[in-house]
Amino acid sequence: SVIPVILSGGAGTRLWPLSRELMPKQLLKLTGERTLLQETALRLGHPPVVVCNHEHRFIVAEQLREVGLEPRAVVIEPVGRNTAPAAAVAALMLADADPDALMLLMPSDHLIVDTEAFRRAVEAAVPLAQGGRLVTFGIQPTGPNTGYGYIKAGRPLGDGFEVERFVEKPDLATAQSYLASGEYTWNSGIFLLPVGLFLSELETHAPGMADTCRAALAKGRSDLFFFRLDDETFAGLKGQSIDYAVMEHSTQVAVVPVDMGWSDIGSWSALWQESTRDASGNVIKGDVLAIDSSDCYLRSHDHLVATVGVHDLVVIATDDAVLVADKSRDQEVKAVVEALKREG
Ligand code: GDD
Ligand code: MG
Repeated sequence: SVIPVILSGGAGTRLWPLSRELMPKQLLKLTGERTLLQETALRLGHPPVVVCNHEHRFIVAEQLREVGLEPRAVVIEPVGRNTAPAAAVAALMLADADPDALMLLMPSDHLIVDTEAFRRAVEAAVPLAQGGRLVTFGIQPTGPNTGYGYIKAGRPLGDGFEVERFVEKPDLATAQSYLASGEYTWNSGIFLLPVGLFLSELETHAPGMADTCRAALAKGRSDLFFFRLDDETFAGLKGQSIDYAVMEHSTQVAVVPVDMGWSDIGSWSALWQESTRDASGNVIKGDVLAIDSSDCYLRSHDHLVATVGVHDLVVIATDDAVLVADKSRDQEVKAVVEALKREG
């Protein structure tokens, strides 16, 4: 059986000021009626395990209940240690109940338009995972994005391929050469993992991490319907992503290519790209009046925002902060959050 595990620990800082520490992007209704977390949970439709931080636990549980998916477990991290420990904790819990379980590890902050294609890809991945592979899902790249993992497929294997090479977040020149070669797909960030194999690969490539996670589970405690990992033990882990810790090094990786209308809506321009635009190319949300303005993302809920004669701008007004940014520089919105943090 395939058990969904949703990682909901990210902060989504490039979507400031809408995405905040207390209400990060996965918990917001960014594109439609449901939050990204709800969309993610509904995609497979079975009750998921969710790994999230302490501050978000009630919102996470409530949002899942709202869509009729009582979580199997909500695991609380006292501090974020990136995705490898979060995945390890989920794998340890599931392996305890069923050593042959397959976990579908999913980020909580992506958009996938074609749910049927997603489900077919997961079905195609099941025999590969059962045959002893860590399965990735490959997306046709559209640009030399340096924020993604790149996968080079090798020999055909079942409905997918063996992976010859996995490179996490290459520099721009490398990403450009991968794109030009036509031989690489982007890593979607979704993985189908046999829990036992994942834990043994983790032990090989990141020795000790699984043991520390096991101890954090053993010393953890149930709190209502949450499971809280032991603070001190978990905090002692080094932060590492699953991509750097395992996927780049393992020789047991497979890839299933999938065309499912995937996007990582990590920034305002990405959200603009994925939203329905008016005749002037604007995306307008809320109380906004745009005159002779084009190709902008304009969003305001508490104030009226009016623009005159502006182009390619992002304007986001919330009750306590306003962002005005050049749309082509929206990756740098992160810097605002960092500066605010420094100022305390
Ligand atoms: N529970 C928990 N704890 N979740 C976390 C933590 C953590 O400490 N850190 C990140 N997450 C969640 C995020 O909320 C997101 O849903 C998911 O894990 C992936 O983390 P990101 O930080 O967004 O990873 P990334 O975007 O840099 O890279 C990954 O995704 C790309 C595709 O979007 C990699 O897998 C890349 O290879 C991939 O291309
Ligand atoms: Mg991401």
